[in-house]
Amino acid sequence: MIYSHVPVMLKEIISFLDPKIGGKFIDCTLGGAGYTRAIAELVGEKGKVLGIDLDELALENAKRLLKEKKLNNVELVRSNFKNLNEVAESVFPGELVDGIVFDLGLSSAQLDDEARGFSFKGERALDMSFGPDNELSTEKIVNFYSLLELTKIFREYGEEKQAYRIAKKIVETRKKKKIKTTSDLCTLIEEIIPIRAWSKIHPATKVFQALRMETNKELEVLAEALEQAEKRLKIGGRLVVVSFHSGEDRIVKNFLRDRKGKDFNILTKKPLIPGSFEASCNKRARSAKLRAAQKI
Ligand SMILES: C[S@@+](CC[C@H](N)C(=O)[O-])C[C@H]1O[C@@H](n2cnc3c(N)ncnc32)[C@H](O)[C@@H]1O
Repeated sequence: MIYSHVPVMLKEIISFLDPKIGGKFIDCTLGGAGYTRAIAELVGEKGKVLGIDLDELALENAKRLLKEKKLNNVELVRSNFKNLNEVAESVFPGELVDGIVFDLGLSSAQLDDEARGFSFKGERALDMSFGPDNELSTEKIVNFYSLLELTKIFREYGEEKQAYRIAKKIVETRKKKKIKTTSDLCTLIEEIIPIRAWSKIHPATKVFQALRMETNKELEVLAEALEQAEKRLKIGGRLVVVSFHSGEDRIVKNFLRDRKGKDFNILTKKPLIPGSFEASCNKRARSAKLRAAQKI
């Protein structure tokens, strides 16, 4: 499978991280290795980058790409970034780093991966885990969560106005037959929200986003990882986070607000968004928000 992902706001990321020769950096969300590769080139052979991802596909692709580019200064670890402290300690024992970056959510390659169910296109297994050893499965959420639990996640993570009606339809449908595939789920959502030619998004988009976030406990692990990132940064080190969901951005905003002037200088008063050129070329970039801070 060709791993395709266009890095979002790469120029801005590099400008905030400001990698220098010999620097040590952590990319908590390796993905297509767009950020990792750029940082690795800038820190040179004396520097080092740790790239973390839950997804074996991302690691395999990065290994191949880095070999091709003859970059030997990258260490790849398959893990959840909620284990940042432990993973960082194994690669940089007893050392603090110059910068840590997060580019949240999923990559375009994961969305296109037919073995998984991130996209509502086609008939795929209901599997939205970033990694193979996830505690929760999307199929379990859809088939066993209560009406209230489903409504809550569709409302909170998906901001879906029809959250209750969709949850109710799921509960009624699964009494007759297990909901197994993405198309089973799409069909029942389309009965509540019909596909309309003028709508820019598919009616299942928000429910799929909510299920992905719940499957991977995305907000919880982000909050845990930010706390650890603060501890692994040296004074003057940079923290940069790109988020694509209002709940994620709120966590980053509040985390930095609570530490402003004590632990961090905030480098972005308001979150940075992609310029119009990037937004027009890369659909995925449109909802991106970048926040950056410097450890003091
Ligand atoms: C948007 S992509 C990153 C793209 C990357 N910045 C690039 O330039 O190609 C996000 C990646 O983060 C990974 N990811 C998401 N949550 C994670 C977590 N909790 N721990 C580790 N990796 C995670 C996903 O598997 C995905 O590969």
